[in-house]
Amino acid sequence: MSREDFITKEYSKKIEKGEVAWESPSNIALVKYWGKRANQIPANPSVSFTLKNCKTTTKMEFQRKTVKSETFDFKLFFEGKWNPEFEPKIQQFFERIETYCPFLKDYNFKIFTENSFPHSSGIASSASGMSALALCVMSLEKELGAIHTSSEISFYKKASFLARLGSGSACRSLEGELIEWGAHQNIPGSSDLFGIKYPFEIDEVFKTFQDTILLVDKGQKQVSSSGGHNLMQGHPFAENRFTQAHLNLDKLKEVFASGDLENFIAIIESEALTLHAMMMSSKPYFILMKPNTLQIINKILEFRKTTRTPVCFTLDAGANLHVLYPEAHKTKVLEFIKNELVVYCEKGQYICDQVGKGAEKL
Ligand code: PMV
Repeated sequence: MSREDFITKEYSKKIEKGEVAWESPSNIALVKYWGKRANQIPANPSVSFTLKNCKTTTKMEFQRKTVKSETFDFKLFFEGKWNPEFEPKIQQFFERIETYCPFLKDYNFKIFTENSFPHSSGIASSASGMSALALCVMSLEKELGAIHTSSEISFYKKASFLARLGSGSACRSLEGELIEWGAHQNIPGSSDLFGIKYPFEIDEVFKTFQDTILLVDKGQKQVSSSGGHNLMQGHPFAENRFTQAHLNLDKLKEVFASGDLENFIAIIESEALTLHAMMMSSKPYFILMKPNTLQIINKILEFRKTTRTPVCFTLDAGANLHVLYPEAHKTKVLEFIKNELVVYCEKGQYICDQVGKGAEKL
């Protein structure tokens, strides 16, 4: 499929006003997306668990303009208050998706959004936020009776395509439980343009996975996500890293099917550390882990060795850790977290999440 297939050819209905609302979760990558080309095209394929509790709720009110103008007209309300600070992100999103949804300049919008997790928790809201907004835009487009020339365009496919243009990883947040994004020769249906439900067998154990997010550092990011992706351009290890991501996806096929937790852990932790190794070897370089991140990693490795509990960690582009483990080990792992890891978290804060099934229309 090509980008052009996502352009709406015509609309069969006219709608004066109304509202649509969605809630959409965050996701945690197992094979990391790190590096992109123009138009939010990933440099390598990735796969993630969709989360359940960390989510954004977005309501979009729309009113048809009496005269079409050449501007996007919207106001963004965050947690009930007008928040002009977030508006440039929405402006940029609308600019990027306008070709595909040409009705945007016909309406005045009021966008009300809030997250289930604290704003300054160090958890990125871009995946849940952009996927929730993309779904609202798609719901309006659906009400307008959008007609596409390609019969392959489905609601979720286009919503994921739009979400990607807001924030790459957002395209993996719409459905559950495992989502793959990025063209991979051995994954049928995979595409750089949108996320797909992981098409192979998934052992039940992975559908029970818990993700306890340890908030080690709630401060501002040292490097923006786009800035980080750009560091992969001309990076001395870039090509090997991209090849490695493809190979890890190949290896995970057998792991997901069999429920082989030992190999799952080995691949997932290596992915997290490789992501940070890429940042440490970039020009300029960044050390995004904090001393407490390393303390926690060592504690997890030790706990796993001594208790043989299948628990592992992953990291995003920051100091916070995601502790991943099957539900069957929840009591024991939570006790370990409370007794031994919480002390390394800023203000002792952590968030309990688990694998989820994706976004919901409200
Ligand atoms: O979607 P972005 O541009 O914020 O990039 C996300 C990058 C990582 O979180 C580090 C990895 C990933 O695949 O989610």
